[in-house]
Amino acid sequence: MSSPSNNLLLIGFMGSGKSSIGRLLAKETGRFFLDTDSLIEHSLGMSIPQIFAKKGEEFFREKEVELCEWLQHSVQNAIISTGGGLPLYVQRLFRIGSVLYLECDFESILERMNRNGQSSQRPLFQNPEQAKELFQSRLETYKEQATLTVDGNGSAQSVLKRILPLL
Ligand code: S3P
Repeated sequence: MSSPSNNLLLIGFMGSGKSSIGRLLAKETGRFFLDTDSLIEHSLGMSIPQIFAKKGEEFFREKEVELCEWLQHSVQNAIISTGGGLPLYVQRLFRIGSVLYLECDFESILERMNRNGQSSQRPLFQNPEQAKELFQSRLETYKEQATLTVDGNGSAQSVLKRILPLL
């Protein structure tokens, strides 16, 4: 699975392991690792919760679109982890590289969120019921944007083993 840019984008819902799997994949393949949330946070000098609170979600989505323009034209040979909502706001992600959807059950996501106390950093994951609705409303788009779908349930190592033979 490769694209002319040799980039690999990881997409999926919050808590599906995009950043941890992305880091492991970068280490295994010798490519650089980029994370769209971190790039936006660093460029603005604000955390995601601060950006949502002070600038609003719409502003954050505009930054995701801008960032993807830059990725498309300037980045090669990278593993790129994306924010969970990005595929809803940026069309035709395949222009940046191969798109791998980490498909997870909502139960696994909830369990990871609770275990790692991760929801405090995620403005759109404050209420599990609303998060589940958001999850369900996004599944179709993730599948449409993906050039490849991998089962993202289980440990990071087991997910990595499923992905490596496909690269
Ligand atoms: C979001 C997911 C977050 C982050 C922001 C919005 C979403 O990224 O981009 O809080 O809309 O699902 P992660 O998927 O890395 O948590």
